[in-house]
Amino acid sequence: MNDTELFEATNKAYDMVFKSAVELSCLKAASDIGLFEQLADGPRDLETLARATESVSARLEKFLITLQQINLVEQQDGAWALTPFATQFFAPTSQHNNLTMRPFVEYISRLSETYYMQLADVVHGQIDFTSLVPHPPTTRDESLFYETLHRSNIHFVAKLLTEHADLSNVKHIVDVGGGIGDIAAALCEHYPDIAISLINLPSAVELINENSAARGLSERIRPVVLNMYREPYPKCDAVLFARILYPMNEQFSTMMCQKAYDALEPGGRIIIADLIICNQERPNYDYLSHYLCAIGMGFSVLDFKSHTIYPDVLKRVGFRDVTLHEAYDHVLYQAVKPAA
Ligand SMILES: C[S@@+](CC[C@H](N)C(=O)[O-])C[C@H]1O[C@@H](n2cnc3c(N)ncnc32)[C@H](O)[C@@H]1O
Repeated sequence: MNDTELFEATNKAYDMVFKSAVELSCLKAASDIGLFEQLADGPRDLETLARATESVSARLEKFLITLQQINLVEQQDGAWALTPFATQFFAPTSQHNNLTMRPFVEYISRLSETYYMQLADVVHGQIDFTSLVPHPPTTRDESLFYETLHRSNIHFVAKLLTEHADLSNVKHIVDVGGGIGDIAAALCEHYPDIAISLINLPSAVELINENSAARGLSERIRPVVLNMYREPYPKCDAVLFARILYPMNEQFSTMMCQKAYDALEPGGRIIIADLIICNQERPNYDYLSHYLCAIGMGFSVLDFKSHTIYPDVLKRVGFRDVTLHEAYDHVLYQAVKPAA
């Protein structure tokens, strides 16, 4: 390495060691002492904040100075306030905004304690991965836990779909593994004539119904309980896989695309919205955090398939007119089942 390369590499190595330790520990501590809640309604002076968070004020002040360095808090007229960045991603909001890191802070820091920090033992075969909450979920609470995680970063995938999915002639979409319907709701709000059958597990049905009722879309979003891997999908003129296929290997993805093909009317469309997980210039740490869990499992379907295989997969199944849009670290593939 020359000196320029060495300097860049030094920064990266420093980030690997120091940044991750400082950032996650600060987020966890801020969350544990209730700092984001206490500052959600506006700035507070140090003493008030120390009382409200049951902190030693001299220590809290140093902690706040650390948080200021990493852009989570700022000073306003001698009081402490959340930055706009912290307000978006870490403060509680009365309405879910589909772009918050709040549930992940708790989840990832608990997994760090119980699993990630023991990874050597996992690799040695001495520890297996056990999910904090049973998976697949079978109760409403278990589904609520996982669906809360999924819906927390839906904003940009929903935006990609509303901006680029071609649904102009579509009346009935089957949304396979559709969460509790935030993407379905965004599509319904964008296309006033479509109805959506949303496939999910039995334990998610109440959550789907409550979410669509809250958005005035009960008539247009219908939960359908079936096993998306095993059972045929309802007949429709579009099948949507939003963040479903990306971790599956080529064989599994082909099987899922075939199921979509079988459900579609001639002229119908398949729509695949996937995270990009295979760019080593920009590793997908969200996916990697799951992949690390797969190391400790006897069996897992998680893979590192490149999305560039989709055109061939889709054509082999019989689809035509494959298109690709790429934005917001996601890809959107669309293709058409030829008219008979
Ligand atoms: C990764 S989430 C994706 C949710 C949503 N499409 C999104 O992009 O946020 C997977 C979804 O599939 C559902 N699911 C998991 N296994 C399933 C199965 N065997 N049959 C039907 N749905 C399933 C989960 O409950 C969850 O809602």
